Amino acid sequence: MKILLLGSGAREHALARALARDPQTTELVVAPGNPGTAAIATNLNIDPCVPEEVVALATQMGADLVVVGPEAPLVAGVADAVRDAGIPCFGPGAEAARLEGSKAFAKEVMAAAGVPTAEAAVCTTEAELAAALDRFGSPYVVKEDGLAAGKGVVVTDEYPVALAHGRACLSRGGGRVVVEDYLDGPEASLFCVCDGATVRPLAPAQDFKRLLDEDAGPNTGGMGAYSPLSWAPADLAEQVVREVAQPVVDEMARRGTSFIGLLYCGLALTGRGLRVVEFNVRFGDPETQAVLARLTSSLPELLHAAATSALAEVPEPTWSDQCAVDVVIAAPGYPGTVTTGGAISGIEAAEELDDVHVLHAGTGTTERGELVSTGGRVLSVVALGPTVEDARARAYEAVERIELEGAHYRTDIARTSSETKRTAVTCS
Ligand code: GLY
Repeated sequence: MKILLLGSGAREHALARALARDPQTTELVVAPGNPGTAAIATNLNIDPCVPEEVVALATQMGADLVVVGPEAPLVAGVADAVRDAGIPCFGPGAEAARLEGSKAFAKEVMAAAGVPTAEAAVCTTEAELAAALDRFGSPYVVKEDGLAAGKGVVVTDEYPVALAHGRACLSRGGGRVVVEDYLDGPEASLFCVCDGATVRPLAPAQDFKRLLDEDAGPNTGGMGAYSPLSWAPADLAEQVVREVAQPVVDEMARRGTSFIGLLYCGLALTGRGLRVVEFNVRFGDPETQAVLARLTSSLPELLHAAATSALAEVPEPTWSDQCAVDVVIAAPGYPGTVTTGGAISGIEAAEELDDVHVLHAGTGTTERGELVSTGGRVLSVVALGPTVEDARARAYEAVERIELEGAHYRTDIARTSSETKRTAVTCS
């Protein structure tokens, strides 16, 4: 199978790794990719958000499958263009991608499909914003309506902070902000592979979105993740498919905008039952790095089946008994103004540890071939182990072997004692 994978983060490096190691993959091109994907695939430098460029490359290489990593190309209609060109594509069309692109749209679909979620108000004026903040009260949950790279949510006990964020959201883009009820309870991410009709869940994971230990500091794109979740109900995946993913997939089909791709269900396991915090329409980052480290069945077969409406014909995914922990190393300044260009060393030493691999995100190479940082989240360090504690100890041992001046990371990723304390306030 010839596969074109779009994107350049650690999520795409994890996807590329799982695609490249499968014998069904005969050619793998990553566009634009990163230095990590260059080592296992061919990187080609196109703009993944320009449908014509993606279609031209997919056609030229005779791709059997295009896999879209990030949300921006999906919202830009890249999957529609690829399918229109007759090439199977794993990723929803622009209309279905609104499940992530607009929080208000997602709420509307959930209401129509009877999916449990936080009560919410969509506000377009300051008066509506103030009324919604009064109605829902503290802690205030204020979400930018459109895409915000994981940084569009403020959860705060302070009314002036909530109001200021809401006003800022109103002044941007679509001029809409969503205010919603606060959900307490541990959070979990469940990825559902969908072919427009059939849904196949992957293994649940948990993400650590706040910058600092103990879930302090601002939201980020995600500072680490682990899988599986020993504390979650054993039937969590089945329950999410039954109560969330299948009803949404059916509702999208009913609307004539079938959902083909990855429906990321961000969940709160509250005292009143399961609630959806958010949907994304692509693999999550950094959860994918942990989830795919445990996948033992064929990823190309699964994604191709989803892209060709044949998911019911392939076996359920299978998983290693090992646990996976992923720790993100971020550049100085992240998630604010980032210092780039720092020399990175120690990756080989980290990978000398058993069951450790390092995934690239914000990295590049200089003309002299030196590896340097180029973005906020620089590397994902992934370790497997027989228990979460073993995997976590190994991941941190590996992290300590990597050098990047001023880099920072959380020290409590997957720490068991913090699992049940963590709540769903850290949504994107
Ligand atoms: N892990 C959160 C996200 O991918 O948006």
